[in-house]
Amino acid sequence: MRIILLGAPGAGKGTQAQIIMSRYGIPQISTGDMLRAAVKAGTELGVAAKKVMDAGGLVSDDIIIGLVKERIKQADCAPGFLFDGFPRTIVQAQAMIDAGVSIDHVVEIRVADDEIIQRLSGRRVHPGSGRVYHVTHNPPKVAGKDDDTGEDLVQRPDDSEATVTKRLGIYHEQTQPLVGFYQARDGVEANAAKYHLVEGVGSVEDITQRMLAALS
Ligand code: AP5
Ligand code: ZN
Repeated sequence: MRIILLGAPGAGKGTQAQIIMSRYGIPQISTGDMLRAAVKAGTELGVAAKKVMDAGGLVSDDIIIGLVKERIKQADCAPGFLFDGFPRTIVQAQAMIDAGVSIDHVVEIRVADDEIIQRLSGRRVHPGSGRVYHVTHNPPKVAGKDDDTGEDLVQRPDDSEATVTKRLGIYHEQTQPLVGFYQARDGVEANAAKYHLVEGVGSVEDITQRMLAALS
């Protein structure tokens, strides 16, 4: 099964991806996590990407498309994969179609902008695994510590209110047009992905149930 999770920053893509991937036995491919790993490793890509990410901008399509094409060649992607945060522009979506990478389902998780700001200000992450928590909505068992490793949780540098506002603006401008892009193909083009809209407000479990119902 090949799935695209579409949604604004803070819509809950990473949170749901962690659940869906274990359910379906497919890897989560988060371009944001891949870029953060490059930043941590201090590679040339990481140094360049950090500036763009901290400012809330988008990394260039060429770089992202190259990263994803390499990633999906790996053996663990044979049963399928779950894209989280990719594609984010029409150019990225078209590049997958041009490369013959068919997708079964596109799931849009929709959340209003005011809820997003509140979610991202309380987000905490485990840098090693990408596991995501929220100080009140989805707290770790021990405050400030990852459930599996006990290691410290951190705040993402791009979660300041000013940067979140910028990221939301870019989402509406560059990523939201993908909704129309996939809707227009669903049921029209051969092998087109099925498009599903999932209301993203409610408990994490409720949203997982809505997603599983859409995918079944
Ligand atoms: P990326 O890491 O993809 O960030 P994003 O899309 O902005 O999304 P987030 O990770 O912020 O949110 P999420 O939807 O995963 O929400 P989460 O589950 O964490 O990208 C970062 C940057 O990398 C980009 O800005 C860009 O620069 C670059 N980049 C990445 N991909 C790129 C691409 N393809 N092209 C170009 N550039 C790219 O949840 C958020 C919070 O809400 C958490 O605290 C969580 O616990 C909480 N929460 C989750 N569900 C619920 C719920 N149901 N109720 C209440 N709280 C909830
Ligand atoms: Zn995420």
